[in-house]
Amino acid sequence: MRKCKNKNFNYALFGNPVNHSLSPEIHNFFAKQTGILHIYKAINIPLDRFSCVVSNFFENNINGANITAPFKKEAYFFSNQLSERAQIAQSVNTLKKVNNKYFLGDNTDGIGLISDLKRLKFIKKNFSILILGAGGAVQGILLSILLFGCSVDILNRTDLNAVNLVNQFKKYGNIKIFQANSLRNKYFDLVINGLSRNIEYQNIFIPSHLFSSKTFFYDMNYGLEKTSFLNWCEKINAKHVSDGIGMLVFQAAHSFLLWHGMLPEIDYIINFLSKKSFNISSN
Ligand SMILES: NC(=O)c1ccc[n+]([C@@H]2O[C@H](COP(=O)([O-])OP(=O)(O)OC[C@H]3O[C@@H](n4cnc5c(N)ncnc54)[C@H](OP(=O)(O)O)[C@@H]3O)[C@@H](O)[C@H]2O)c1
Repeated sequence: MRKCKNKNFNYALFGNPVNHSLSPEIHNFFAKQTGILHIYKAINIPLDRFSCVVSNFFENNINGANITAPFKKEAYFFSNQLSERAQIAQSVNTLKKVNNKYFLGDNTDGIGLISDLKRLKFIKKNFSILILGAGGAVQGILLSILLFGCSVDILNRTDLNAVNLVNQFKKYGNIKIFQANSLRNKYFDLVINGLSRNIEYQNIFIPSHLFSSKTFFYDMNYGLEKTSFLNWCEKINAKHVSDGIGMLVFQAAHSFLLWHGMLPEIDYIINFLSKKSFNISSN
């Protein structure tokens, strides 16, 4: 394989696709703010070339990387050593080259989400949370939510993927498959959307009695245009809604902490990106 000799950057995001990622903007902002030599680029990797391409970049010029869909599981197997949270999640979104010898895998999605939910005042201990989705992103956040002391119901298109997550995480807290019939006298305090962008939400039937005017709705997706989940929230008159820009910034800040031992300031960049993207959060 052709060696990558590009010395113009030393940190990267690997995924497919990555074209519209805001991570380079966030990381290059952190670099400016901290004065650390941290030049970050997004690299699109062919679906069948993860290990080969990533090894090559690490050999030649980079010290650390973020990993996004669909490679978080492959990054987990690629890592020589794992943080405890990545080990439990079985999913890696951050890689660090240590002593030029081995790769440490971490997962900062959970701390990223919890930090943003706290910033927005969208989460409290003992909250009952409905999570839509059972993909890599949900796998990365479940440990943090359960350890925070919340209970979780999971609703996903493919039951088996949800069942696998319940089995993986049940020893860490109260987590079960969503069954509308068994939830007659309750409502959810918080709904977290971890489905892919632009799903048709009218096809996902969730009885309205499961929400109240106090329910918080958080979309892990974000973008310049309003996401389909946020459109659905508007239709059901949800009052407290946010997209996932804040989570994106917090998970990036915690990757930066792993690489450089310093947690950057995040308020300015969250406000800046929220103005650019569609964000209708409220408390
Ligand atoms: N804000 C942040 O920092 C942040 C961090 C991580 C991820 N995210 C976002 O979270 C989203 C999910 O990421 P991921 O890594 O978990 O992706 P993923 O592993 O591909 O999982 C996708 C999820 O969406 C479901 N899904 C896909 N197509 C569907 C359809 N047509 N109808 C119903 N359900 C469908 C899948 O269900 P099945 O199990 O049935 O396939 C699965 O639950 C992405 O858009 C990503 O950008 C944001």
